[in-house]
Amino acid sequence: MTERIFNFSAGPAILPVPVLEEAQRDMLSLPGVGMSVMEISHRSKTFDEILGRADDGVRKLLGVPANYRVLFLQGGASLQFSMVPMNFLPAEGGADYILTGSWGKKALKEAKKVGAVNLAATMADGGFTRVPKNDEIKLDSRAAYVHITTNETIEGVEWKQEPDTGDVPLIADASSDIMSHRIPIDRYGLIYAGAQKNMGPSGVTLVILREDLLQRIPDGLPTMLDYRTHVENRSLYNTPNTWGIYIISLVCKWVDEKGGIEAMERENETKAKLVYDAIDATDFYRGHADPDARSIMNVTFRLPTEELEKKFTSEATAQGLDGLKGHRSVGGIRASIYNAFPLAGVEALVAFMKDFERKNG
Ligand SMILES: Cc1ncc(COP(=O)(O)O)c(C=O)c1O
Repeated sequence: MTERIFNFSAGPAILPVPVLEEAQRDMLSLPGVGMSVMEISHRSKTFDEILGRADDGVRKLLGVPANYRVLFLQGGASLQFSMVPMNFLPAEGGADYILTGSWGKKALKEAKKVGAVNLAATMADGGFTRVPKNDEIKLDSRAAYVHITTNETIEGVEWKQEPDTGDVPLIADASSDIMSHRIPIDRYGLIYAGAQKNMGPSGVTLVILREDLLQRIPDGLPTMLDYRTHVENRSLYNTPNTWGIYIISLVCKWVDEKGGIEAMERENETKAKLVYDAIDATDFYRGHADPDARSIMNVTFRLPTEELEKKFTSEATAQGLDGLKGHRSVGGIRASIYNAFPLAGVEALVAFMKDFERKNG
């Protein structure tokens, strides 16, 4: 098969076609280099330029202030669940965690292994359908940091505005909505994100961190787990994921050429609205997230029965709409519509939804 299908997968996920084409074109030899990006030294001038382009690209697109460092690490967002508390949760302190879904729960579990954690709010009781209101969050003003998941990929629940944490650094897992809409970076102490949704392939994790926080890191951490190692070595302490960083540099260029994050945000709002409108138009489909916390990246919904959901995904797959099965922990349908996902694919999904309801409703 050489035709591309509509890929609704939650991650690894769809990448922009022009990025894949450029990577394909330069696969055997980067222009003027005679080798592919995977075959050159990570200490070479060529790779240094690629790393520089990825760093500049992230900084420009996200408006990263000068007092923040951009890192490209390995171990996925999952390793950040451990690195964050190892670096920033002091032995005699505590950290606040706000849970709005399954990934936040995993982050909390790892933090508990490192130190004292306060569950500042959890939306688990309602089945993770929303984010807490300000008066539902019990923050500790002495906390070392507050941790949130900006977009819960499994439940499709997204913060529309950061919680106010005062002087306590806000730390966020933004794996599934980074670069999908504008965010005020200066409201955060640290943001991390696995690349494999909106930025590139799996195997590289973006970390953006405020420089002054580095002073809080205790000595004695394993070298690779200490953020200072990667800051001091510009993500080149050991061999980084050179291919992943290269693809991120191309994705940044693509986003920039499309008009930057503002343009992405507009397009993402339009795409998400089409699906949510289709869900709201009928009782046959039921959205999982509350309307004011609906993710513009992962649209989650249910059908009247699990049998119909199975039929829905298998008939959709047969029509070239792939990856719509919800995560095994919550079931239902999940349409992941990241930056690179085309409007035509969303329109095809909406048409399929209408047709499916007509035949099965
Ligand atoms: C919000 C969020 N956090 C963390 C992860 C885990 O990421 P990784 O597989 O890169 O460790 C995922 C993966 O889908 C995710 O969606």
